[in-house]
Amino acid sequence: MVSLCLSRDWRATRGRVRDIVGKEWLRPLRALREDLLTFEYGPVLEGTGPCRIFWDAHGFDVAECVLGEILPRVAARDHLVVMHDLADARYAPPEKALYGHGLWKGGNLGLGPSLRLGHIDSAVEQSVSILDFTSRNEILLNSADHSFHTELGSDQTKVSEMKAAIGEELFSLSAHWFWFTLNGGPGEYTFPRFRRPNAFHQWARRMRARTAARCRHLCGMCR
Ligand SMILES: C[S@@+](CC[C@H](N)C(=O)[O-])C[C@H]1O[C@@H](n2cnc3c(N)ncnc32)[C@H](O)[C@@H]1O
Repeated sequence: MVSLCLSRDWRATRGRVRDIVGKEWLRPLRALREDLLTFEYGPVLEGTGPCRIFWDAHGFDVAECVLGEILPRVAARDHLVVMHDLADARYAPPEKALYGHGLWKGGNLGLGPSLRLGHIDSAVEQSVSILDFTSRNEILLNSADHSFHTELGSDQTKVSEMKAAIGEELFSLSAHWFWFTLNGGPGEYTFPRFRRPNAFHQWARRMRARTAARCRHLCGMCR
């Protein structure tokens, strides 16, 4: 398992996770402090075995990289892409549909305004990119909430078994993630073009992020 992140957060989290799951559980993990947009994917994605992608870094640039650089490399293999921070509005409480705030205008804050696209409810940019991608390629975009409610929720025996296995406290039918695969789809796919950012683009990106963070800090209007 290879995990890529810009931050050093895993250093702090690692010990706490290890205390719960044990050292062995973490052995297959290579947690690298790397930029997804400049990482060399060839070596880690070579091979033909099943491949699972957990996508939890936000923004249009990352979405372009996942859909245009990573996905074409695994499209012919058994693969599954899981995306965090998207909720299924069909299973959300009705008050979640109310605005109570201005429009979502881009960004990835997770708090404040969110966006409704069909039954996707999200506050992160890749929700737009993924709906665009799956619509163009005519593939299904599935929610874990839907699977949980339809495959688990109506079966009390399964619910009881699961609660017994993981504990009442951890059991929930709200997942907050969607998934898709190109396996079993039409076969001919279109992918967005991805270009690795050069040094200037990387500097400009850092400046934009810094300015946005400062603006949020100073005026509080961005939320
Ligand atoms: C919502 S957090 C999720 C982190 C982790 N999955 C967790 O649950 O703790 C989003 C993470 O994406 C990372 N990220 C954003 N852009 C990135 C990029 N271009 N390359 C690598 N990581 C990136 C950020 O550093 C941030 O830690």
